[in-house]
Amino acid sequence: MKLSVIGCGYLGAVHAAAMASIGHEVVGIDVDERKIEALAAGKAPFFEPGLDELLAEGVASGRLRFSSDLADAAGAAVHFIAVGTPQTKDGDAADLRFVNAAVEGLLPHLAPGDIVAGKSTVPVGTAARLAEAVESVGAELVWNPEFLREGWAVEDTVSPDRIVVGGGARAADVLREVYHTAVATETPFIVTNYATAELVKVAANAFLATKISFINAMAEIAEVTGADVTQLADAIGHDNRIGRRFLGAGIGFGGGCLPKDIRAFSARAEELGRGESVSFLREVDAINLRRRERAVQLVVDGLGGSVHRKRVAVLGAAFKPHSDDIRDSPALDVATRLHGLGADVVVTDPAALENARRVHPQLDYAADRDEALRGADAVVVVTEWDEYRRQLSPEHAAGLAAGRVVVDGRNCLDADTWRAAGWTYLGMGRP
Ligand code: UDX
Repeated sequence: MKLSVIGCGYLGAVHAAAMASIGHEVVGIDVDERKIEALAAGKAPFFEPGLDELLAEGVASGRLRFSSDLADAAGAAVHFIAVGTPQTKDGDAADLRFVNAAVEGLLPHLAPGDIVAGKSTVPVGTAARLAEAVESVGAELVWNPEFLREGWAVEDTVSPDRIVVGGGARAADVLREVYHTAVATETPFIVTNYATAELVKVAANAFLATKISFINAMAEIAEVTGADVTQLADAIGHDNRIGRRFLGAGIGFGGGCLPKDIRAFSARAEELGRGESVSFLREVDAINLRRRERAVQLVVDGLGGSVHRKRVAVLGAAFKPHSDDIRDSPALDVATRLHGLGADVVVTDPAALENARRVHPQLDYAADRDEALRGADAVVVVTEWDEYRRQLSPEHAAGLAAGRVVVDGRNCLDADTWRAAGWTYLGMGRP
């Protein structure tokens, strides 16, 4: 099939490449010409495992091309809208400027019978509003939310857990053809109305954020009782109604989705007169932000009450491993707070260093882990990359650092091993 993908950020670039890899003829369109140039040369403009290969294959096959001109969408049977919906500058609501502009710009290039498939995360009610414009040119709108995780984006796109389509039966059948490989392996395919499809996405993200903040709330209780939240999570996680995933206590969630999505959901619920239904999400957000402060406090405590002029090695900058994304990164929040308290902060990260340097030029950076550790009075692990979690021995770290204080912001180190090697180990919600 011929497809167009409007918006070539994380979501759109991966979607375009993945659709070409399953046999479709795809044009990816974005207003950012530099991005388009990179993508057309088979290079992802961000770090995403497996994406470069997929792009290069797609471009070489002739099935994948990129353009900065919306007119190139003409001729495609399905047009995916994959532009961003960031948090508005002056509030919590989602900024729909890019979605509105993409749909409006596409209208003159649509033919009767075309399908416009929204993938962006939008406030419930958006699709119904956009449908009128799309129908005015004889095309049809569906909402088809995307659940991909950064770091696993290719895998999640090619083999999703489920496909959700809000819209009419004919359009749903066309999307079954688009996702033929997933349909062939009996991936659950849920056809529903617009509002449900839009809500599935925000509800899923709200649930995941709540799960993380729940365990972080338990960490706060553990901290005043001597309990160990990691053992608590293991124990409750064995109940398969609860499950162990997303019960990792630490400095909490960040990134381009969970924080802004729960805020936008609260704002939308308030607009709908149902603010109280999701008022707990404000608490989820507050717990999440408190954990960053807690990590900073542990560093201060570990260094005897002050970090002023102390060298602190911050291991991690990305909001999670396998990503170079620093949007709302808890890791960099911890680093900048320590810097604000007068610490000599040295940040390192295997993928996100360049992005971090651009956004936080006031911090010092080290090209690699060992350079960051050299002479450090304290070490704080804030992104659980393997090279900090698995490949760093306390003996090796002791050979480089000046002090023996390690704060484990992700509860990813083996506390006993570090303590046995002479370190003061401070975890999140652990005695
Ligand atoms: C998330 C959703 O998982 C995905 O389905 C949606 O499409 C987009 O938002 P992503 O932002 O890529 O994906 O990251 P995710 O893997 O969900 O992690 C989010 C944050 O939660 C990270 O900062 C991570 O470190 C943190 N986290 C995750 C925890 O603090 N504890 C956990 O147990 C799990």
